[in-house]
Amino acid sequence: MNALEEAQKIYDQLVAWRRDLHQHPEMGMEEYRTAKFAAGMLRELGYAVQEGVAQTGVIGVLENGPGPVIMSRVDMDALPIQEMNDVPYASTVPGMMHACGHDAHVAIGLGIAMLMVQHRESWNGTLKLIFQPGEEGMNGAEKMVAAGALEAPRPDAALAIHVWNALPVGKVGVTPGPVMAAAESWEVTITGKGGHAAQPHKTVDPLTIAALTVTNLQSVVSRNVDPQGAAVVSIGRLRSGDTFNVIPETAEMQGTIRTYDPNVRETVLCRVQDIIEGTARMMGARSDFTLYPLAPAVINDPKITALVHAVAADLLGADAIKTDERTMGSEDAAFFLNEVPGCYIFVGSGPKDRPAPSHHSPIFDIEEEVLPIGVALVVESLCRLMPRGEK
Ligand code: NI
Repeated sequence: MNALEEAQKIYDQLVAWRRDLHQHPEMGMEEYRTAKFAAGMLRELGYAVQEGVAQTGVIGVLENGPGPVIMSRVDMDALPIQEMNDVPYASTVPGMMHACGHDAHVAIGLGIAMLMVQHRESWNGTLKLIFQPGEEGMNGAEKMVAAGALEAPRPDAALAIHVWNALPVGKVGVTPGPVMAAAESWEVTITGKGGHAAQPHKTVDPLTIAALTVTNLQSVVSRNVDPQGAAVVSIGRLRSGDTFNVIPETAEMQGTIRTYDPNVRETVLCRVQDIIEGTARMMGARSDFTLYPLAPAVINDPKITALVHAVAADLLGADAIKTDERTMGSEDAAFFLNEVPGCYIFVGSGPKDRPAPSHHSPIFDIEEEVLPIGVALVVESLCRLMPRGEK
């Protein structure tokens, strides 16, 4: 089977699915229509289907003789963004759109499901397709794992894809090792002592302390992290005070931490907390710090990544492959890939001749030729991970 030719034969079907899903976006953990759509199609194709896994997750299992169990995962949720694209398939839901391409992922997932049935003669084993809810900050993957998505049958390897506008369509990112960062968010309330702005000596000014904290935090990445390592400390929210002549009682801050390496992560988490609490203490204020883990880093298994690399080279040519594509963004596919060795693949979906609209923007869109490419990469990789005749 030539997976790319086979995937191109269902191009119109992939586009129709993707556009229908694009017109009907749903928020994370509320993907009821999308899940029903995927489950219905899987059932029609002959998969054993489990619905309602962690609320709206769907699992389709296809047994095809003795062999390994391999999973492929896609996500389904949209974002609270008002679409600004003037296209016939624009979102029909005000204030909500598929601005990260998860509509394309569901269409690609169904294309994979279809070709794997049509080409049963090309592989042996058990295919487990996972359609997960709530990727956008709701840890839908973690919830599916907790609900037993990786049990009965337990996968031996995992594949996951993301359409990727940072790469033009036809290119792919197949990177061994870390590809997406571990992410935490944190928040702190600094409590001082409010009073008259004309009598600062009778107050403990939390606003000044917050400003110092912002400045002091800049030293974490520059002075505590090995320059060869990667880390981000960002403050995304700072709120204090209501008017010019009052020193407020409190200041609130929120931020995020991104790292790849567990040791760097540990250093950064400790330094951020020490600096926040130390700055407040030094200035005579109280601080209440809370850390919220979001997702671990996505780490690609070298062996499986090498297999996907060979597949991409055969299908798209060696020049199409970037082996150092990674981002400090986070991805909850990490909860699957932490348990099962696998490969997370960036599939170029940007235009070839002009700047690409960025993910999570109101003008986000993809080049639809990415759809059969995504299908073919995963189908061919699945066939090689579950070779014919393997016992
Ligand atoms: Ni996404």
